[in-house]
Amino acid sequence: DPARIPVLCIDGPTASGKGTLAAAVAERLGYHVLDSGALYRLVGLAAERAGIATDEAALADPAVVARLAALAERLPVRFGDGRIWLDGDDVTQAVRSEAAGMAASRVSALPAVRAALLALQRGFRRLPGLVADGRDMGTVVFPDAPLKVFLTASAATRAQRRYEQLISRGEPANIDSLLADLEARDARDRARAAAPLKPAEDALLLDNSALSVDETVQTVLSWWQRRQPFG
Ligand code: DC
Repeated sequence: DPARIPVLCIDGPTASGKGTLAAAVAERLGYHVLDSGALYRLVGLAAERAGIATDEAALADPAVVARLAALAERLPVRFGDGRIWLDGDDVTQAVRSEAAGMAASRVSALPAVRAALLALQRGFRRLPGLVADGRDMGTVVFPDAPLKVFLTASAATRAQRRYEQLISRGEPANIDSLLADLEARDARDRARAAAPLKPAEDALLLDNSALSVDETVQTVLSWWQRRQPFG
């Protein structure tokens, strides 16, 4: 019975540190991880490879939406050893690009694409437990989760972190355009009708602008110890 398998949800805006937090908490608990943003990024990437445009004009065409939903339904993806494979190609780096993030934000506004990814996401709920990060883990995908964290940080803090991350990888980065991009992405993720970015009613809010990664992880682990009824 999947309802008996514990899930800890971490939702929040772009670059709030969800991925880092989810990986650290999962490691400490020995749980699986679902990076749901990667699935939307993969749909964007798969669309690009299939020659399906994902700009606003293209997405107004129901035939394009149907093709994207079909793509999401049969996403040829494989996860393993911290790497992501799409149709046999290692796309671990490609999914993290800003372009893939923007494409993900656009295709993720489509209800048909979200519906197509639902079963795939719920399939990650396996023993001994799951840490799921995204925008709607607590509101839509795992509404029965015993702990839902809504992670935020100021836009300036998030842009700075994304900047340092890119620079450390040797990739070019510009702080002003990163800030503009993440504000545009947040605005779209919050304003969309389908599963908008917002805290679940029973979510605990955590602003980590002034916290270290370790302090953030410790806070969530202590909430989990108090919250989860699974022993
Ligand atoms: O978390 P991320 O930056 O990898 O997510 C990329 C985009 O995917 C984000 O802008 C919105 C979308 N997304 C979503 O709609 N629902 C999720 N559960 C996760 C991501």
